[in-house]
Amino acid sequence: MSTVPHSDDEIHQASIDWLSGEVRPDDDVVDIGCGTGWMVRRLAATGATVIGVEPSESLVAAARANGLDVRLGSAEAVPLPAGCCSMIVCGVALPYMDPIRATREWSRLLRPGGRVVLTTHGLGYPMRHLRSHGRDLRAWVYAARMVLNTAVFAVLGRRLPGSVGDTLCHTTRMLSRLYQAAGLELVSAREWGAILGQPSFLAHRVRRSGD
Ligand SMILES: C[S@@+](CC[C@H](N)C(=O)[O-])C[C@H]1O[C@@H](n2cnc3c(N)ncnc32)[C@H](O)[C@@H]1O
Repeated sequence: MSTVPHSDDEIHQASIDWLSGEVRPDDDVVDIGCGTGWMVRRLAATGATVIGVEPSESLVAAARANGLDVRLGSAEAVPLPAGCCSMIVCGVALPYMDPIRATREWSRLLRPGGRVVLTTHGLGYPMRHLRSHGRDLRAWVYAARMVLNTAVFAVLGRRLPGSVGDTLCHTTRMLSRLYQAAGLELVSAREWGAILGQPSFLAHRVRRSGD
């Protein structure tokens, strides 16, 4: 019997299963926004070749100190050649990226037949964040920024400038349009942790259009 993940731990586990479930030993994987590289390590254990990309110098240094192949760079200009990978993994990093440029980069990096698995924040995430951290004023600032940026992006198709604009939530419909514009298509979607009818997390499988 399958269960619907709802608690933070269940969602975390479902997210790991989603991101790692499709990787094959012969895959060349790029994990974009890989943070400390824990998923790079996990995927490499399947036999796949895995490169991480991360803009934080300190996180890159920490990952490299653990023997992982993690490159300093951003999702909007990934420092890897076109057609270098069969799979892209992106675990809750899309909210902090320019999603238009990031999805174009996915299209550039993937070989024919390539695919993407990602998790990201849904519209319920700001409420979930406040439910967990609402006693902290910074949580209110973070949630307010997220709601504002998401509204601005929905209307104008771009984020607010600088670090003010670096937190977005997504809907499957919004992302499907971006995938299409980048030459990609949604294969399947799941939603987790709904609050007031809005999912906190989205999980997508994506592929190159026409493959
Ligand atoms: C919530 S963490 C997720 C880290 C990791 N993927 C995980 O699942 O634990 C978001 C990550 O995205 C990275 N990030 C932020 N902006 C980025 C960008 N423009 N391009 C690539 N990564 C970015 C952050 O530095 C951070 O490591």
